[in-house]
Amino acid sequence: MDLQSLIPKDAQAFKTKTIDKLMECTNGEHSLRKVLSPLDLTLMGIGAIIGTGIFVITGVVAANYSGPALVVSFVIAGIVCAFAALAYAEFASMVPVSGSAYTYSYASLGEIWAWIIGWDLILEYGVSIAAVAVGWSGYATSLIAGAGITLPAAFINPPGTNGGLVNLPAMAIILLVSVILIIGVRESARVNMVIVAIKLAVIFLFLYLAFGHIRPANWVPFMPFGWNGVITGAAIVFFAYIGFDAVSTAAEEVKNPKRDIPIGILSSLAIATILYIAVSAVLTGIVPYTLFADTSAPVAFALEQIGISWGSALISVGAICGITSVILVLLYGQTRIFFAMSRDGLLPGLFRQIHPVYRTPVKVTILVGMVTAFLAGFLPLTTIAELVNIGTLAAFIIVSLGVIVLRHTQPTLPRPFRCPFVPYVPILCILSCGLLILALPLVTHLRFVLWLAVGLVIYILYSRHNSRINDDTSALDCWKE
Ligand code: ALA
Repeated sequence: MDLQSLIPKDAQAFKTKTIDKLMECTNGEHSLRKVLSPLDLTLMGIGAIIGTGIFVITGVVAANYSGPALVVSFVIAGIVCAFAALAYAEFASMVPVSGSAYTYSYASLGEIWAWIIGWDLILEYGVSIAAVAVGWSGYATSLIAGAGITLPAAFINPPGTNGGLVNLPAMAIILLVSVILIIGVRESARVNMVIVAIKLAVIFLFLYLAFGHIRPANWVPFMPFGWNGVITGAAIVFFAYIGFDAVSTAAEEVKNPKRDIPIGILSSLAIATILYIAVSAVLTGIVPYTLFADTSAPVAFALEQIGISWGSALISVGAICGITSVILVLLYGQTRIFFAMSRDGLLPGLFRQIHPVYRTPVKVTILVGMVTAFLAGFLPLTTIAELVNIGTLAAFIIVSLGVIVLRHTQPTLPRPFRCPFVPYVPILCILSCGLLILALPLVTHLRFVLWLAVGLVIYILYSRHNSRINDDTSALDCWKE
Protein backbone atom coordinates (compact mmCIF):
# COMPACT_ATOMS: atom_id res chain seq x y z
CA MET A 1 0.00 0.00 0.00
CA ASP A 2 1.29 3.47 -0.84
CA LEU A 3 0.97 5.36 2.45
CA GLN A 4 1.40 8.76 0.80
CA SER A 5 -1.72 8.13 -1.27
CA LEU A 6 -3.79 8.25 1.93
CA ILE A 7 -2.89 11.91 2.42
CA PRO A 8 -4.62 14.76 0.55
CA LYS A 9 -1.90 16.03 -1.80
CA ASP A 10 -2.46 19.78 -1.57
CA ALA A 11 -2.91 19.99 2.20
CA GLN A 12 0.03 21.86 3.73
CA ALA A 13 -0.49 20.19 7.10
CA PHE A 14 0.38 16.81 5.57
CA LYS A 15 3.28 17.97 3.43
CA THR A 16 6.66 16.46 4.28
CA LYS A 17 9.94 18.34 4.08
CA THR A 18 12.59 16.72 1.95
CA ILE A 19 15.79 15.71 3.67
CA ASP A 20 17.79 17.91 1.28
CA LYS A 21 15.70 20.87 2.32
CA LEU A 22 16.09 20.04 5.98
CA MET A 23 19.86 19.82 5.52
CA GLU A 24 20.04 23.11 3.60
CA CYS A 25 20.18 25.25 6.71
CA THR A 26 22.69 23.28 8.74
CA ASN A 27 25.81 24.93 7.36
CA GLY A 28 26.95 28.50 6.86
CA GLU A 29 28.30 31.29 8.99
CA HIS A 30 25.22 31.44 11.20
CA SER A 31 25.13 27.74 11.94
CA LEU A 32 25.92 25.96 15.19
CA ARG A 33 29.52 24.95 15.88
CA LYS A 34 30.42 21.34 14.97
CA VAL A 35 32.55 20.18 17.88
CA LEU A 36 31.08 17.06 19.48
CA SER A 37 32.74 13.61 19.27
CA PRO A 38 31.18 10.12 19.76
CA LEU A 39 32.56 10.05 23.32
CA ASP A 40 30.97 13.46 24.04
CA LEU A 41 27.68 12.11 22.73
CA THR A 42 27.81 8.91 24.78
CA LEU A 43 28.61 10.93 27.89
CA MET A 44 25.88 13.36 26.97
CA GLY A 45 23.44 10.44 26.77
CA ILE A 46 24.55 9.08 30.14
CA GLY A 47 24.42 12.64 31.47
CA ALA A 48 20.80 12.99 30.42
CA ILE A 49 19.64 9.50 31.30
CA ILE A 50 20.91 8.66 34.79
CA GLY A 51 19.46 10.99 37.42
CA THR A 52 16.22 11.41 39.30
CA GLY A 53 14.84 8.13 38.00
CA ILE A 54 17.39 5.93 39.74
CA PHE A 55 18.25 8.23 42.65
CA VAL A 56 14.71 9.29 43.59
CA ILE A 57 11.79 7.30 42.18
CA THR A 58 13.03 3.68 42.35
CA GLY A 59 12.19 3.32 46.05
CA VAL A 60 8.57 4.35 45.72
CA VAL A 61 8.10 2.13 42.67
CA ALA A 62 9.58 -0.88 44.48
CA ALA A 63 7.40 -0.31 47.54
CA ASN A 64 4.12 0.35 45.73
CA TYR A 65 4.18 -1.39 42.36
CA SER A 66 6.99 -3.75 41.47
CA GLY A 67 8.39 -5.12 44.74
CA PRO A 68 11.70 -6.96 44.22
CA ALA A 69 10.62 -7.38 40.58
CA LEU A 70 11.75 -3.76 40.16
CA VAL A 71 14.52 -5.22 38.07
CA VAL A 72 11.91 -6.73 35.70
CA SER A 73 10.21 -3.32 35.40
CA PHE A 74 13.58 -1.83 34.45
CA VAL A 75 14.20 -4.60 31.90
CA ILE A 76 10.78 -4.06 30.29
CA ALA A 77 11.21 -0.27 30.10
CA GLY A 78 14.76 -0.81 28.79
CA ILE A 79 13.55 -3.12 25.99
CA VAL A 80 10.91 -0.58 24.93
CA CYS A 81 13.59 2.11 24.85
CA ALA A 82 15.94 -0.14 22.87
CA PHE A 83 13.30 -0.52 20.13
CA ALA A 84 12.85 3.25 20.08
CA ALA A 85 16.60 3.88 20.15
CA LEU A 86 17.07 1.77 16.99
CA ALA A 87 14.43 3.85 15.22
CA TYR A 88 16.01 7.10 16.42
CA ALA A 89 19.43 5.89 15.31
CA GLU A 90 18.19 5.20 11.76
CA PHE A 91 16.69 8.67 11.50
CA ALA A 92 19.62 10.40 13.14
CA SER A 93 22.05 8.86 10.63
CA MET A 94 19.80 9.79 7.73
CA VAL A 95 18.69 13.29 8.81
CA PRO A 96 21.50 14.78 10.91
CA VAL A 97 19.60 17.96 11.70
CA SER A 98 18.76 19.57 15.07
CA GLY A 99 15.30 18.84 16.36
CA SER A 100 15.21 15.08 16.94
CA ALA A 101 11.77 13.48 16.66
CA TYR A 102 10.29 16.77 15.50
CA THR A 103 12.55 16.89 12.44
CA TYR A 104 12.12 13.17 11.71
CA SER A 105 8.35 13.54 11.65
CA TYR A 106 8.67 16.52 9.30
CA ALA A 107 10.63 14.35 6.89
CA SER A 108 8.39 11.31 7.10
CA LEU A 109 4.85 12.11 8.20
CA GLY A 110 4.19 15.77 7.41
CA GLU A 111 4.03 19.20 8.99
CA ILE A 112 1.10 18.67 11.31
CA TRP A 113 2.71 15.57 12.85
CA ALA A 114 5.98 17.42 13.17
CA TRP A 115 4.21 20.23 14.98
CA ILE A 116 2.38 17.83 17.30
CA ILE A 117 5.61 16.06 18.16
CA GLY A 118 7.53 19.33 18.57
CA TRP A 119 4.82 20.59 20.89
CA ASP A 120 4.89 17.26 22.72
CA LEU A 121 8.69 17.47 23.12
CA ILE A 122 8.33 20.95 24.62
CA LEU A 123 6.22 19.28 27.29
CA GLU A 124 8.64 16.37 27.72
CA TYR A 125 11.74 18.50 28.11
CA GLY A 126 10.26 21.58 29.80
CA VAL A 127 8.40 19.70 32.48
CA SER A 128 11.18 17.21 33.11
CA ILE A 129 13.75 19.99 33.55
CA ALA A 130 11.53 21.51 36.24
CA ALA A 131 10.74 18.16 37.89
CA VAL A 132 14.37 17.10 37.89
CA ALA A 133 15.44 20.47 39.38
CA VAL A 134 13.00 19.92 42.23
CA GLY A 135 14.65 16.53 42.87
CA TRP A 136 18.04 18.29 42.82
CA SER A 137 16.83 20.81 45.37
CA GLY A 138 15.68 17.99 47.71
CA TYR A 139 19.08 16.30 47.67
CA ALA A 140 21.01 19.59 47.92
CA THR A 141 19.03 20.92 50.89
CA SER A 142 19.28 17.63 52.78
CA LEU A 143 23.04 17.51 52.20
CA ILE A 144 23.38 21.09 53.47
CA ALA A 145 21.18 20.19 56.44
CA GLY A 146 23.53 17.26 57.14
CA ALA A 147 26.33 19.82 57.45
CA GLY A 148 24.28 21.68 60.10
CA ILE A 149 22.86 24.48 57.91
CA THR A 150 19.07 24.53 57.79
CA LEU A 151 17.57 26.71 55.05
CA PRO A 152 14.19 28.35 55.83
CA ALA A 153 11.28 26.15 54.68
CA ALA A 154 9.73 29.16 52.90
CA PHE A 155 12.60 29.23 50.39
CA ILE A 156 13.01 25.54 49.65
CA ASN A 157 9.38 24.58 48.94
CA PRO A 158 6.78 25.75 46.42
CA PRO A 159 3.65 27.60 47.66
CA GLY A 160 1.22 25.23 49.38
CA THR A 161 3.85 22.73 50.49
CA ASN A 162 5.38 22.78 54.00
CA GLY A 163 4.89 26.54 54.40
CA GLY A 164 6.83 27.28 51.23
CA LEU A 165 6.92 30.45 49.14
CA VAL A 166 9.40 29.52 46.45
CA ASN A 167 11.89 26.73 45.79
CA LEU A 168 14.99 28.87 45.36
CA PRO A 169 17.62 26.10 44.99
CA ALA A 170 15.62 24.53 42.14
CA MET A 171 15.46 27.90 40.37
CA ALA A 172 19.13 28.61 41.00
CA ILE A 173 20.42 25.35 39.50
CA ILE A 174 18.43 25.87 36.28
CA LEU A 175 19.72 29.43 35.90
CA LEU A 176 23.29 28.32 36.56
CA VAL A 177 23.04 25.56 33.97
CA SER A 178 21.57 28.04 31.46
CA VAL A 179 24.65 30.22 31.84
CA ILE A 180 26.96 27.25 31.14
CA LEU A 181 24.97 26.43 28.02
CA ILE A 182 25.16 30.01 26.79
CA ILE A 183 28.94 30.07 27.12
CA GLY A 184 29.31 27.25 24.65
CA VAL A 185 28.50 23.73 23.67
CA ARG A 186 32.11 22.53 23.98
CA GLU A 187 32.38 23.98 27.48
CA SER A 188 29.04 22.40 28.36
CA ALA A 189 30.27 19.04 27.10
CA ARG A 190 33.36 19.37 29.31
CA VAL A 191 31.30 20.20 32.40
CA ASN A 192 29.06 17.27 31.54
CA MET A 193 32.07 14.93 31.26
CA VAL A 194 33.27 15.77 34.78
CA ILE A 195 29.82 15.43 36.28
CA VAL A 196 29.18 12.11 34.54
CA ALA A 197 32.50 10.73 35.82
CA ILE A 198 31.51 11.57 39.42
CA LYS A 199 28.03 10.12 38.94
CA LEU A 200 29.36 6.83 37.54
CA ALA A 201 32.00 6.57 40.28
CA VAL A 202 29.30 6.93 42.94
CA ILE A 203 27.11 4.27 41.34
CA PHE A 204 30.01 1.82 41.17
CA LEU A 205 30.86 2.61 44.79
CA PHE A 206 27.28 1.82 45.79
CA LEU A 207 27.37 -1.50 43.97
CA TYR A 208 30.72 -2.36 45.55
CA LEU A 209 29.66 -1.44 49.10
CA ALA A 210 26.27 -3.08 48.90
CA PHE A 211 27.02 -6.28 47.01
CA GLY A 212 28.20 -8.27 50.04
CA HIS A 213 25.02 -7.34 51.97
CA ILE A 214 22.56 -8.93 49.55
CA ARG A 215 20.17 -11.35 51.28
CA PRO A 216 18.24 -13.42 48.72
CA ALA A 217 15.37 -13.67 51.24
CA ASN A 218 14.64 -10.00 50.46
CA TRP A 219 13.72 -10.99 46.89
CA VAL A 220 10.83 -13.15 48.16
CA PRO A 221 7.97 -12.67 47.31
CA PHE A 222 9.34 -11.51 43.98
CA MET A 223 6.16 -9.99 42.52
CA PRO A 224 3.99 -8.96 45.48
CA PHE A 225 1.72 -6.85 43.26
CA GLY A 226 1.60 -9.30 40.32
CA TRP A 227 2.22 -8.48 36.66
CA ASN A 228 -0.03 -5.43 36.80
CA GLY A 229 2.27 -3.94 39.40
CA VAL A 230 5.34 -4.78 37.35
CA ILE A 231 3.92 -3.17 34.18
CA THR A 232 2.77 -0.03 36.02
CA GLY A 233 6.22 0.05 37.62
CA ALA A 234 7.75 -0.13 34.12
CA ALA A 235 5.58 2.80 32.95
CA ILE A 236 6.89 4.88 35.86
CA VAL A 237 10.57 3.86 35.82
CA PHE A 238 10.47 4.60 32.10
CA PHE A 239 11.23 8.14 33.32
CA ALA A 240 14.68 6.90 34.28
CA TYR A 241 15.51 6.18 30.62
CA ILE A 242 14.36 9.49 29.20
CA GLY A 243 17.25 11.43 27.79
CA PHE A 244 18.90 9.16 25.21
CA ASP A 245 16.71 10.85 22.62
CA ALA A 246 18.34 14.16 23.62
CA VAL A 247 21.54 12.91 21.96
CA SER A 248 19.79 13.24 18.62
CA THR A 249 19.03 16.92 19.24
CA ALA A 250 22.77 17.56 18.97
CA ALA A 251 23.01 16.43 15.34
CA GLU A 252 24.14 19.77 13.96
CA GLU A 253 26.94 20.18 16.47
CA VAL A 254 28.56 16.81 15.82
CA LYS A 255 31.68 16.32 13.70
CA ASN A 256 30.47 13.18 11.94
CA PRO A 257 26.76 12.91 12.78
CA LYS A 258 25.84 10.05 10.46
CA ARG A 259 28.14 7.68 12.32
CA ASP A 260 28.43 9.24 15.75
CA ILE A 261 24.80 9.88 16.70
CA PRO A 262 23.75 6.21 16.42
CA ILE A 263 26.85 5.32 18.48
CA GLY A 264 25.94 7.93 21.13
CA ILE A 265 22.29 6.89 21.37
CA LEU A 266 22.81 3.14 21.48
CA SER A 267 25.86 3.03 23.72
CA SER A 268 24.52 5.45 26.34
CA LEU A 269 21.27 3.51 26.51
CA ALA A 270 23.10 0.19 26.83
CA ILE A 271 25.33 1.46 29.64
CA ALA A 272 22.42 3.01 31.55
CA THR A 273 20.34 -0.18 31.19
CA ILE A 274 23.10 -2.38 32.61
CA LEU A 275 23.61 -0.01 35.55
CA TYR A 276 19.88 0.22 36.25
CA ILE A 277 19.50 -3.56 36.30
CA ALA A 278 22.47 -3.89 38.66
CA VAL A 279 21.36 -1.07 41.00
CA SER A 280 17.74 -2.20 41.21
CA ALA A 281 18.69 -5.83 41.87
CA VAL A 282 21.14 -4.81 44.60
CA LEU A 283 18.78 -2.24 46.18
CA THR A 284 15.95 -4.74 46.61
CA GLY A 285 18.46 -7.40 47.68
CA ILE A 286 19.87 -5.46 50.62
CA VAL A 287 16.68 -3.90 52.04
CA PRO A 288 13.12 -5.37 52.17
CA TYR A 289 11.14 -3.52 49.48
CA THR A 290 8.47 -2.41 51.98
CA LEU A 291 10.95 -0.13 53.75
CA PHE A 292 11.29 2.08 50.66
CA ALA A 293 7.71 3.39 50.94
CA ASP A 294 8.59 6.76 52.44
CA THR A 295 12.00 7.58 51.07
CA SER A 296 12.81 9.93 48.22
CA ALA A 297 16.51 9.02 48.43
CA PRO A 298 16.39 5.20 48.17
CA VAL A 299 20.04 4.63 47.26
CA ALA A 300 21.39 6.68 50.18
CA PHE A 301 18.70 5.21 52.46
CA ALA A 302 19.67 1.64 51.58
CA LEU A 303 23.30 2.24 52.51
CA GLU A 304 22.20 3.72 55.84
CA GLN A 305 20.09 0.64 56.49
CA ILE A 306 23.14 -1.58 56.19
CA GLY A 307 25.11 0.74 58.48
CA ILE A 308 27.25 2.61 55.95
CA SER A 309 26.24 6.21 56.73
CA TRP A 310 29.35 7.82 55.26
CA GLY A 311 28.50 6.14 51.97
CA SER A 312 25.05 7.64 52.08
CA ALA A 313 26.44 11.22 52.20
CA LEU A 314 28.67 10.39 49.28
CA ILE A 315 25.72 9.04 47.32
CA SER A 316 23.97 12.37 47.89
CA VAL A 317 26.90 14.18 46.28
CA GLY A 318 26.76 11.77 43.34
CA ALA A 319 23.01 12.26 43.02
CA ILE A 320 23.40 16.04 42.99
CA CYS A 321 26.01 15.77 40.24
CA GLY A 322 23.95 13.23 38.35
CA ILE A 323 20.84 15.31 38.41
CA THR A 324 22.76 18.44 37.36
CA SER A 325 23.85 16.78 34.14
CA VAL A 326 20.27 15.70 33.42
CA ILE A 327 19.21 19.34 33.67
CA LEU A 328 22.13 20.38 31.48
CA VAL A 329 21.37 18.00 28.63
CA LEU A 330 17.59 18.35 28.74
CA LEU A 331 17.82 22.14 28.75
CA TYR A 332 20.20 21.88 25.83
CA GLY A 333 17.79 19.56 23.97
CA GLN A 334 14.85 21.85 24.60
CA THR A 335 16.60 24.87 23.12
CA ARG A 336 17.65 22.90 20.01
CA ILE A 337 14.11 21.70 19.38
CA PHE A 338 12.79 25.26 19.62
CA PHE A 339 15.63 26.29 17.34
CA ALA A 340 14.68 23.74 14.67
CA MET A 341 10.97 24.60 14.87
CA SER A 342 11.72 28.29 14.57
CA ARG A 343 13.98 27.79 11.58
CA ASP A 344 11.09 26.04 9.86
CA GLY A 345 8.89 29.06 10.60
CA LEU A 346 6.61 27.24 13.05
CA LEU A 347 7.84 29.41 15.94
CA PRO A 348 8.91 33.09 15.92
CA GLY A 349 12.40 34.25 14.88
CA LEU A 350 13.57 34.86 18.45
CA PHE A 351 13.97 31.10 18.90
CA ARG A 352 16.56 30.71 16.15
CA GLN A 353 18.92 33.61 16.82
CA ILE A 354 22.52 32.51 17.33
CA HIS A 355 24.91 34.67 19.34
CA PRO A 356 27.74 35.92 17.06
CA VAL A 357 30.52 35.11 19.56
CA TYR A 358 29.29 32.09 21.54
CA ARG A 359 27.52 30.56 18.51
CA THR A 360 24.78 29.27 20.79
CA PRO A 361 21.08 30.22 20.71
CA VAL A 362 21.41 32.66 23.60
CA LYS A 363 17.97 34.25 23.67
CA VAL A 364 16.08 30.98 23.59
CA THR A 365 18.37 29.51 26.25
CA ILE A 366 17.60 32.46 28.54
CA LEU A 367 13.90 32.14 27.82
CA VAL A 368 13.76 28.38 28.43
CA GLY A 369 15.91 28.80 31.55
CA MET A 370 13.58 31.44 32.95
CA VAL A 371 10.34 29.61 32.19
CA THR A 372 11.52 26.26 33.55
CA ALA A 373 13.06 27.97 36.60
CA PHE A 374 9.67 29.58 37.24
CA LEU A 375 7.92 26.20 36.99
CA ALA A 376 10.49 24.61 39.31
CA GLY A 377 10.25 27.44 41.83
CA PHE A 378 6.51 27.72 42.14
CA LEU A 379 4.85 24.42 41.22
CA PRO A 380 4.64 21.12 43.09
CA LEU A 381 5.53 18.86 40.20
CA THR A 382 4.89 15.31 41.30
CA THR A 383 1.74 14.71 39.30
CA ILE A 384 2.69 16.88 36.34
CA ALA A 385 5.88 14.81 36.01
CA GLU A 386 3.81 11.84 34.79
CA LEU A 387 3.07 13.95 31.74
CA VAL A 388 6.71 13.65 30.82
CA ASN A 389 6.38 9.89 30.38
CA ILE A 390 3.29 10.05 28.21
CA GLY A 391 4.88 12.77 26.08
CA THR A 392 8.02 10.75 25.49
CA LEU A 393 6.13 7.52 24.78
CA ALA A 394 4.06 9.39 22.18
CA ALA A 395 7.26 10.68 20.54
CA PHE A 396 8.66 7.14 20.37
CA ILE A 397 5.48 5.91 18.66
CA ILE A 398 5.64 8.66 16.04
CA VAL A 399 9.34 8.12 15.32
CA SER A 400 8.79 4.35 14.87
CA LEU A 401 5.89 5.04 12.56
CA GLY A 402 8.13 7.48 10.69
CA VAL A 403 10.75 4.79 10.07
CA ILE A 404 8.16 2.47 8.51
CA VAL A 405 6.65 5.27 6.38
CA LEU A 406 10.00 6.54 5.09
CA ARG A 407 11.13 3.02 4.16
CA HIS A 408 8.01 2.89 1.97
CA THR A 409 8.08 6.39 0.54
CA GLN A 410 11.84 6.80 0.06
CA PRO A 411 13.32 3.30 0.02
CA THR A 412 16.51 4.29 -1.79
CA LEU A 413 17.67 7.09 0.56
CA PRO A 414 21.11 6.37 2.00
CA ARG A 415 20.72 5.01 5.53
CA PRO A 416 24.15 4.80 7.19
CA PHE A 417 22.48 3.06 10.13
CA ARG A 418 19.54 0.74 9.46
CA CYS A 419 17.11 -0.25 12.18
CA PRO A 420 17.03 -4.09 12.03
CA PHE A 421 13.90 -6.14 11.25
CA VAL A 422 11.75 -3.29 9.93
CA PRO A 423 8.74 -3.19 10.24
CA TYR A 424 8.75 -5.64 13.19
CA VAL A 425 10.99 -3.64 15.57
CA PRO A 426 9.10 -0.35 15.02
CA ILE A 427 5.77 -2.18 15.35
CA LEU A 428 6.92 -3.75 18.62
CA CYS A 429 7.97 -0.29 19.77
CA ILE A 430 4.55 1.16 18.91
CA LEU A 431 2.71 -1.66 20.69
CA SER A 432 4.88 -1.64 23.80
CA CYS A 433 4.80 2.17 24.13
CA GLY A 434 1.01 1.98 23.70
CA LEU A 435 0.86 -0.58 26.52
CA LEU A 436 2.89 1.64 28.84
CA ILE A 437 0.69 4.65 27.97
CA LEU A 438 -2.37 2.60 28.94
CA ALA A 439 -0.72 1.76 32.28
CA LEU A 440 -0.53 5.47 33.18
CA PRO A 441 -3.39 7.11 35.14
CA LEU A 442 -6.43 8.43 33.25
CA VAL A 443 -5.86 11.96 34.55
CA THR A 444 -2.47 11.96 32.80
CA HIS A 445 -4.18 11.00 29.51
CA LEU A 446 -6.63 13.87 29.91
CA ARG A 447 -3.92 16.44 30.67
CA PHE A 448 -1.95 15.23 27.67
CA VAL A 449 -4.92 15.61 25.34
CA LEU A 450 -5.49 19.12 26.72
CA TRP A 451 -1.85 20.05 26.05
CA LEU A 452 -2.13 18.76 22.46
CA ALA A 453 -5.36 20.71 21.95
CA VAL A 454 -3.63 23.94 23.00
CA GLY A 455 -0.82 23.11 20.56
CA LEU A 456 -3.27 22.57 17.70
CA VAL A 457 -4.84 25.98 18.32
CA ILE A 458 -1.39 27.62 18.11
CA TYR A 459 -0.66 25.70 14.91
CA ILE A 460 -3.89 26.83 13.31
CA LEU A 461 -3.56 30.47 14.42
CA TYR A 462 0.19 31.03 13.98
CA SER A 463 2.45 28.26 12.69
CA ARG A 464 0.45 27.25 9.63
CA HIS A 465 0.65 30.82 8.29
CA ASN A 466 4.34 31.32 9.04
CA SER A 467 5.60 27.92 7.97
CA ARG A 468 8.42 27.99 5.44
CA ILE A 469 7.56 24.65 3.92
CA ASN A 470 6.57 26.28 0.65
CA ASP A 471 9.52 28.72 0.58
CA ASP A 472 12.27 28.16 -1.88
CA THR A 473 14.98 28.88 0.67
CA SER A 474 18.61 29.58 0.07
CA ALA A 475 20.94 28.94 3.02
CA LEU A 476 20.85 32.56 4.14
CA ASP A 477 17.06 32.73 4.22
CA CYS A 478 17.12 30.14 6.96
CA TRP A 479 18.12 32.81 9.43
CA LYS A 480 15.85 35.55 8.13
CA GLU A 481 13.72 37.13 10.88
N1 ALA B 1 16.15 10.07 32.89
C1 ALA B 1 16.22 11.29 33.60
C2 ALA B 1 16.26 11.08 35.06
O1 ALA B 1 16.10 9.98 35.50
C3 ALA B 1 15.09 12.22 33.23
O2 ALA B 1 16.48 12.03 35.79
